[in-house]
Amino acid sequence: MKNLDIYDIIEKKANKKKLSYEELQFFITKLCSGELPDYQTAALVMAIYINSMEIDELSGFTKIMAESGEQIDLSEIQGIKVDKHSTGGIGDKTTLIIGPIIAACGGKMAKMSGRGLGYSGGTIDKLEAIPSFRTGLEKNEFIHNVNEVGMAITGQTADIALADKKIYAIRDVTATVSSIPLIASSVMSKKLASGADKIVLDVKMGSGAFVKTMEEAVKLAEAMVEIGKQNGRETVAIITNMNKPLGNNVGNLLEVQEAVSTLRGEGPEDLTELCIWLSAQMLSLAEADTFDNCVKRAKSALESGKALEKFKEFVQRQGGDYEVIENPERYYKRPESYSYHAEQAGYFSITSAELIGKAGVLLGAGRLKKEDGIDYTAGIIFHKSHGGHAEKGELLFTMYGEDAEKFDLALPALKESFVLTQEEPVKEPLILKIIR
Ligand code: URA
Repeated sequence: MKNLDIYDIIEKKANKKKLSYEELQFFITKLCSGELPDYQTAALVMAIYINSMEIDELSGFTKIMAESGEQIDLSEIQGIKVDKHSTGGIGDKTTLIIGPIIAACGGKMAKMSGRGLGYSGGTIDKLEAIPSFRTGLEKNEFIHNVNEVGMAITGQTADIALADKKIYAIRDVTATVSSIPLIASSVMSKKLASGADKIVLDVKMGSGAFVKTMEEAVKLAEAMVEIGKQNGRETVAIITNMNKPLGNNVGNLLEVQEAVSTLRGEGPEDLTELCIWLSAQMLSLAEADTFDNCVKRAKSALESGKALEKFKEFVQRQGGDYEVIENPERYYKRPESYSYHAEQAGYFSITSAELIGKAGVLLGAGRLKKEDGIDYTAGIIFHKSHGGHAEKGELLFTMYGEDAEKFDLALPALKESFVLTQEEPVKEPLILKIIR
């Protein structure tokens, strides 16, 4: 390693060359020891963003990232542990619903989640909207909760895939999020380090996702399935539509509330369908049961209220004040709000989920800089789903947040994110492709 130099490594990648395992290991070692200044990390990340990686280079890079921190041994949890991960979208609160469904069906979900990235939200930020919820569980408590409750969610501690934690924070603020090798290595390093036997990936594709086209989504899905295979973990990737936000609520506390309505059986159709579908994929991977039967079990977990009970148990076990989800005024000052009404009649057609994500960040639901705090009450509720008809003057959406001045910043993006059409828009399918 003595002769290696980070300057040469950056230059090599900037010149579109493949990096060797040793060079990648040198980069990750220096990064994790704190010896690399952020500008050199950012330069190499940008070079990877622009020039990509070959599949064996990427698989090695991911393995090194997974080994840059603690590797969790989940063997104390009985049965097959299946993990799920979304590549990030707008309004994606599926983990909060799928975990309780799996637990209610007798499965085990030991999940390590991240914070928001760019305009896409993160499960840990959503959970931290619940006062006193602990997102940094020690390994023993994490394993104990999975065994007892059937699920636990912890943040990526400094000990797990440390390299990803550092790279993730740099990508978030250097416009290097939407990159197949960077997303694949980020997701899969955490999945490899967090010890699940099998992995279900929700690869989001569309205007609100980091990959915008089917071609890119297939490449990303194939890369992650291959990394899983090369590292001995059965991985299934499902490409799903992110041309519109999932559900009606965007923003941390608002999304937790929508997750609870969905667990109560009162959620939006798209969100409910995707959660049942992904849960069934996870259950059928973990157990010798057919997919169709797993769909029935997942539906019944929602209908019986068992999944909601599991969610409450999970929140309370991790110290969260569940009551605040139902009655936010117990803890939060009532947020300011701004309602927007239709200027003409027409079908509500979302044209850019990305602009909705960006509006959420401008309202304070996400971070513009890595040091930024979050306004957990900030976000948007859509009162019309994509394709719903609105009369002139009807309420289309409401913005929320502590700081009413931010409504002026977010409103132009929201107004540009949809049109009111005379023709009903075509409803695109939600589940697009499975890659095994
Ligand atoms: N989720 C991750 O964990 N990493 C990414 O890069 C994108 C989504």
